[in-house]
Amino acid sequence: MKSNYHTVAACLTLFALAAIIPAHTAGGADNPTPKKKITMQNWGEVEGQPVSVYTLTNNSGMTAKIATYGAILTELHVPDKIGAIGDVVLGFDTVGEYVKNSPYFGATVGRVANRIAKGRFTLDGKEYTLAVNNDVNHLHGGVKGWDKKIWTAEARDTPAGASVTLRLVSPDGEEGYPGTVQASVTYTVLRDSNTLRIEYEATTDKATPINLTNHSYFNLKGDGDVYVHEATLNADSYTPTDATQIPTGTIAPVAGTPFDFRTTHPIGARIRDTGGDPLGYDHNFVRNSPETFGLAARVSEPFTGRVLTMSTSEPGFQFYTGNFMDGKTVGKRGVVYATRGAFCLEAQHFPDAVNQSAFAPIILRPGETYRQRTEYIFSLSK
Ligand code: BGC
Repeated sequence: MKSNYHTVAACLTLFALAAIIPAHTAGGADNPTPKKKITMQNWGEVEGQPVSVYTLTNNSGMTAKIATYGAILTELHVPDKIGAIGDVVLGFDTVGEYVKNSPYFGATVGRVANRIAKGRFTLDGKEYTLAVNNDVNHLHGGVKGWDKKIWTAEARDTPAGASVTLRLVSPDGEEGYPGTVQASVTYTVLRDSNTLRIEYEATTDKATPINLTNHSYFNLKGDGDVYVHEATLNADSYTPTDATQIPTGTIAPVAGTPFDFRTTHPIGARIRDTGGDPLGYDHNFVRNSPETFGLAARVSEPFTGRVLTMSTSEPGFQFYTGNFMDGKTVGKRGVVYATRGAFCLEAQHFPDAVNQSAFAPIILRPGETYRQRTEYIFSLSK
């Protein structure tokens, strides 16, 4: 009798739960906590195509939102030292603003992140001409890079944590690149730590360059400039650039330069000495021990106590301090973003690698699989 009562009660509870969790909610079934780990919402349309946003959460206070437009990380919420949860990436409230306005906020950048000199390269004896969209150079995949495409998405609650995989087919000839590429990017909010893991894969039917990254603009305080954020970069060298931001080909030691973050420095301390126009960091750093997955950078913010550590499989990373931000962009929740109001840590192979024999190659050939893994790990300073 008693056990029947329990069976009926359990059935009713399950029925009630099924009624409140929408059909599009994935995951959570094998999770001990009642909170939904993955939800999906419609987020309007771009060129008549529906766009969705997936929300991934863990039990330690991390929530990530990822849009199918551009496979963009639109929000990333983490706790500060008093337990207040805050959004630490820049972005917009609506997809329309990303279409109109975005300097690659949170975007998945491809087929090749960063610059290719004059939008030209030669591969297997054939010269290719790409879209030129940054002064005289090609930047971040061209006029309509992968950050402006609608990806398909599939969410799953995995043993590692709540996860969404976005997929894209990039046709032969897109932005001037050879080969049809099948690409995926998987975002996972780890179950047991406040870590956002991003994994990329790509295959092709013709040899083509591939160099994917995430272009999140971080501000560990939420807004304002990032001058007092303190950075430590695991890089003994960097790749100096010419006036159009193309690497000269030299791999130069950071010692004795404002690029030496081997010991911790506030981001703003030596920004005037960087020499760029506009001033600021916008450089590729050569990660120490580049052959193995490992530490690239650690950035902390003294008031909130938030610490971001980035580890990656990539040999380099672009450290960019939002120098081109004009101080007028109105972002999420109506916040006006300051110039140098964020820092980006774009894990990648080196810029213009396709034209530079001293840099690790980025050519993917049929039968091979490109793989990239980057983790953004959040903690609190002592
Ligand atoms: C580049 C910057 C550029 C920014 C936004 C960064 O990866 O290095 O020069 O302004 O992306 O496009």
